[in-house]
Amino acid sequence: MTAPGRLLFGGDYNPEQWDEEVWIEDVALMREAGVNIVTLGVFSWAFLEVDDDVWDWGWFDRVIALLSEAGIGIDLATPTAAPPLWLHRDHPEIIPVDRRGIRYFPGGRLGWCASHPTWHAYSTRIARTLGERYGAHPAVRMWHVGNELGGGNRICYCEASSAAFREWTRARYGTIDALNRAWGTAVWGLRYRSFDDVTAPLASESGQNPSLLLAYDRFSSDAHLDQYRREKDALRAAGVQTPITTNLMLGVGGSVADYATWAGDLDVIAIDQYTLAADPHRERELAFVASRARGLDRTKPWLVMEHAVSAVNWQPRNAPKRPGEATRHSLQHIAHGSDGALFFQWRASASGVEQYHSGLVPHAGTDTRQWREVVRLGGILDRISEVAGSLVEPSRVALVADLPAKWAWEEGQKPLNDHPLELAGRRWHEELSARGLVPDVVPPTADLSAYDLLVVSGLYAVDDASAARIADAAAAGATVVIGHLSGIVDEENRVRTGGYPGAFRDLLGVFGEEFAPLLDGERVALASGAIAVDWTERIRATDAEVLDTYAEGPLAGLPAVTRRRVGAGQAWYVSADLNEGLGPLVDDVAAAAGVAPRVPVVAGVEAIRRVSGESSWLFLVNHGTTDALVPADGYDLVAETPVSGAVTLPAGEVAVVRETPRE
Ligand code: GLA
Repeated sequence: MTAPGRLLFGGDYNPEQWDEEVWIEDVALMREAGVNIVTLGVFSWAFLEVDDDVWDWGWFDRVIALLSEAGIGIDLATPTAAPPLWLHRDHPEIIPVDRRGIRYFPGGRLGWCASHPTWHAYSTRIARTLGERYGAHPAVRMWHVGNELGGGNRICYCEASSAAFREWTRARYGTIDALNRAWGTAVWGLRYRSFDDVTAPLASESGQNPSLLLAYDRFSSDAHLDQYRREKDALRAAGVQTPITTNLMLGVGGSVADYATWAGDLDVIAIDQYTLAADPHRERELAFVASRARGLDRTKPWLVMEHAVSAVNWQPRNAPKRPGEATRHSLQHIAHGSDGALFFQWRASASGVEQYHSGLVPHAGTDTRQWREVVRLGGILDRISEVAGSLVEPSRVALVADLPAKWAWEEGQKPLNDHPLELAGRRWHEELSARGLVPDVVPPTADLSAYDLLVVSGLYAVDDASAARIADAAAAGATVVIGHLSGIVDEENRVRTGGYPGAFRDLLGVFGEEFAPLLDGERVALASGAIAVDWTERIRATDAEVLDTYAEGPLAGLPAVTRRRVGAGQAWYVSADLNEGLGPLVDDVAAAAGVAPRVPVVAGVEAIRRVSGESSWLFLVNHGTTDALVPADGYDLVAETPVSGAVTLPAGEVAVVRETPRE
């Protein structure tokens, strides 16, 4: 992907938006900033295939030659995120259909249905043609299939999708009886006679079976993964040998894809990550998303393929990043294991939907604070480039998070229909991170054996195999914490009966009799002083110690937090959604697990270590508003100064300390 000892720096480059003189300036500015790779072609289809099978390569050849002569690498995109208007005019049947059965109109992007054979033919033709033409070009370092595949895409409900879904259900369930059992179709008499009765869940006049809805979510994820594979196969068949990936939407914006099932098909885990201007702790959201990226494959560095250097255009109020914030964000990604910092986009567009989205080159040009920060960032990346290829020091702490579990919770009617399941996980991640424990965020299918502390939060749906792996981790010595609303339904969205939480009841030694969701604004104190919102539960400890109880309300005196010794480890249950007072509980479980920080813990400073062989680098990002003194020894590659005993990190600044090897 890159030369050894080199971090990638650059972003999406859309030269078709500009006259050729601007390209010359672009390349000069890229060199000034130290840009070494650009993502090219994401939206270029209409300019490459100007009409059906009519091609215009001249301008693209010239851009590629300019970049190549300047030593700038190319991450070449198949332009399938942006089907041309002629294709929509000739084949409107490829445009997605919404739940009401209404087809969208042309004029946006991602206007295609992943299950439509006509789309398959056109998208693989352009992928193959590009692969044949540029696959061997030395400047093309990697390939980028579509854009945010499975991220911005709409779930499609057209006839072709229905037909593909029928085949998908046939393969998953084998017989219609098995499907009827799995989906519990006796309720409301929604029994299928044969697979011919199965259709996409278009909007009906009332609620729909949550098992059908979850199955359709899974099918849609698989349909987009198949599209990725189709384009990847077309590139490989054309002779492409460099890494192929797509940019995953793990954070804000979400996805219709369960990327945990995609990771094995990606040569590099690449992600897009955008912060919300209105989130006062957006750096914590970034850390969570970066921890998820790392958790998808802990054996190699990943890559932040897009983030924003300043404002975006799609939030209600698009405040710019504060001075220095973009640098901190990029360095945070690298601290968490990214081998570079790529942005959307190189030059801010003057027109079109994204005309107010920041770019590395702002509308105002280079005599700007922002451009100076970009050039400084390029310098920092150059100075710390020796970290490329290293990995984040293996963590002993993980948070288990799963997108299908969230889908299962959100599909259908629930005890709480306005409870974002993922927020509790975010809070656990923040508290663990604040204690210097650098948690990975992993899917339930990951190898869990390396962790001493496993927090399972919001794993509402879980299959038997994953539940068993979690129980095995406890038996083998880990401290496993099961949070509220975990293990309630199986992978088909059917309640596991016989006492909540069915999948973990025996592991935890508890018996949940009744959910007791709280009304909006209701708060329930626990004996420890922690406060529950949204969720409480009437449980009995059948084979567990009671560590905390409800202190008020109908559950007063009943267990709220329990612990059971299991083999060499232990299993804790937190039956309530604790939005205050989680910290002391995190201290307790960390102590029980015997995990201690291996990085300095200083308020406001994020500290993460990357390691490679005998070498290690301590990344320090001061998110605070005051200067911080952080214990460290070695050489700060950012400030280019030796560090002895401690580094003084000014408010908002970053340091990357090549550590003195320990004796
Ligand atoms: C996504 C897309 C980009 C761009 C940005 C804007 O990440 O991949 O093409 O639209 O959003 O923030």
